[in-house]
This record gives sequence, structure tokens and C-alpha cells, in this order.
Amino acid sequence: MRNIVILISGGGSNMRAIVEASRRDRWEALLGARVVAVLSNRPDAAGLAWAREQGLATAAVDHRAYPSREAFDAALLQAIAPFDGDETEPALIVLAGFMRILTPGFVAHFAGRLLNIHPSLLPAFPGLHTHARAIAAGCRVAGATVHEVTTELDHGPILGQAVVPVLPDDTPETLAARVLSQEHRLYPRAIADWLRSKNKSAT
Ligand code: GRF
Repeated sequence: MRNIVILISGGGSNMRAIVEASRRDRWEALLGARVVAVLSNRPDAAGLAWAREQGLATAAVDHRAYPSREAFDAALLQAIAPFDGDETEPALIVLAGFMRILTPGFVAHFAGRLLNIHPSLLPAFPGLHTHARAIAAGCRVAGATVHEVTTELDHGPILGQAVVPVLPDDTPETLAARVLSQEHRLYPRAIADWLRSKNKSAT
């Protein structure tokens, strides 16, 4: 059984969509995987309370308590360790609204099994304020990208994308809401595809 660990920083709407999809689509029976823990860099992240109510393990590693990125990442790695599986089936680590830039050492430790969702059609608009930038650029479409995390920010191999129209009267908020609703469909599907590809290569 492969563990899935989800990292969040706030409401965790993508995390909730993934947990709900994993149960609705019977990932445990059909894909040999299950969400086991939700961790956050913010002790007050609303998604932690929801995850606890769902019976999932939760932990907070408050980034403000650490003097450096390296120290925080080391503590985060320790918090993940109990759920990290083993060499035959290492855990899948899913960043879902996780608003920390991870150090190269952390990324290297989870290389090949660390995913993220970014609210733009990468490689366009890496970084922040993606919706405002898409509107300012006059884009007619926008969207979200699920990708493997590498040491280059918002850059790794793309697993899936969702496209939405940019409407003439869009604000960053209205566009963000349209993209987010597609993220909730895209991310679970991309994770399921990733799990199937791992299961195939294991046989
Ligand atoms: C989403 O726009 C996602 O693309 C980005 O964080 C935002 C909030 O996600 N990574 P969530 O509601 O916390 O899942």
C-alpha cells in the first residue's frame, strides 16, 4: 500500500478534493494507495481541522519557529518520516496550496515522488499573482498545471493541465475561482494517473 502525504498552507481545498476523490474512486482497492496524513507549515491552517475530522493524521511544522529554510525543511522531513513508506513503496508527497519554497536537499530527498499544482499554464507565469499577470497580458485562456517538483521553481515535468477561458470582465478573483474549480478535478486525476504509471512499472 502506497502512502500519500499532502502538504498545505491554508484552506486546503485541493487537499479536500484529493481525499474525497481517493475515497469515491476507491484508490486503496484499485490503485493500492491512500492518503494517510496532512501536514502544514501553519498551525492555524483550516485544512488541518478538516483532515483531523476525516480521521487523517495531521501535523504542523511552523516555519516561523526555524532560523532557516534548511532547518525548517529538516523538521518537515522528520514530520513526514513516519508516513514515508519504504523503498518498495515510498510515499507520494503532494503539495496542495503549500506556500513554501523547498530547499534543493528536500526536493532531492523526494525526487520523482513530489508533486505540485500551480495556478497557471506552465511554463507561462511561474511564481506568484498568476491570474493578475494573465489578465494583464491579455491572455484568452488560463488554467492550472500539475507538475513534478524540481529544484527550479514551478518548472518540473508536467503531468496534467486544465484550461479555462479568460472573460473580458474577469478580475484576478473571478479567474482564480474558475481555475480553482478545475484544479479540484485536475489534481486527483493527475495523481491517479501517476499511481497507475507506478503500478504498471512495478509489474
Ligand atoms: C490554488 O490556487 C493552488 O493552485 C495554489 O494554492 C491555491 C490555493 O489552494 N497552489 P488550496 O485551496 O489551499 O488547495
